Amino acid sequence: MKHGESMIQPPQREPITLVDLAEKKRRFEPIVMVTAYDLPSARAVEAAGVDLVLAGDTAAMTVLGYRSTVPVTIEEMLVLTKAARRGLRTPLLIGDLPFGSYERSHEQAISSAQRLVKEGGADVVKFEGPSAGRAVAIAAAGIPVMGHLGLTPQTATALGGGFKAQARSGAAARRLLDDALALEAAGCFELVLEAVPAQVAAVVTERLAIPTIGIGAGPETDGQVLVLNDLLGLFEEFTPRFVKRYAELASDMAGAVSAFADDVRARRFPAEEHCYSIERGELERFLTSLEAHG
Ligand code: KIV
Repeated sequence: MKHGESMIQPPQREPITLVDLAEKKRRFEPIVMVTAYDLPSARAVEAAGVDLVLAGDTAAMTVLGYRSTVPVTIEEMLVLTKAARRGLRTPLLIGDLPFGSYERSHEQAISSAQRLVKEGGADVVKFEGPSAGRAVAIAAAGIPVMGHLGLTPQTATALGGGFKAQARSGAAARRLLDDALALEAAGCFELVLEAVPAQVAAVVTERLAIPTIGIGAGPETDGQVLVLNDLLGLFEEFTPRFVKRYAELASDMAGAVSAFADDVRARRFPAEEHCYSIERGELERFLTSLEAHG
């Protein structure tokens, strides 16, 4: 196998469209969404045949090492979004508007959304919070937009809600439903529901014509999303209740690097198969040149 070739052949699927997503809701066919922020992970999720890929601002914490999603800039999001784009063919790529890139005005939101699409290669964008006005403005600029309600990490601390489940009182659940309906009316094509009770998410899903994608929102949403680094066991700082780990790649990575270190220290690496050769005559010519010229 040549360097750069992949062992897994991506399934030959048609690129996913917004119509496909609406159809999936109609047919009760679960929608699969996952994050990806670089080429190898984009290739992996493409090969796995997911429907939606979010170049999400969780990358701030999972790959850039910030303590929250707040510091990440639109420029950093563009680098990550472009890298994901290069590894994707079929899933819809969602660009994620980071904190500070859409709150000031409709114009700011449109301009940031346009950058994610034009420069980053995103097909659609997502923003956090209940601002139906922003959704109208972005959609009117010709960019399909996705909402995100419930736990909204960009403002979790500022709004006093913290990183905990939302919509757990009757009044808060009602507000969530009203916000969801407003975002749908504003033109959102889909809605992420994060950390809300399963029963509340089920009602919102039933009342909306657009698909809902849950993360910590129970089994009744139209689709599910997980952060790739969480599901791969690559982000170990904390694991929310709603995460299911399908691999332990952080310890696999550390194990592989320490095996390499052991091999180097024991002079087991590189072995003959990792070395280039030179023809005997050429080697002699080289060594003779040393005798002649020192
Ligand atoms: O940025 C992100 O990864 C997200 C998911 C948690 C949905 O918004």
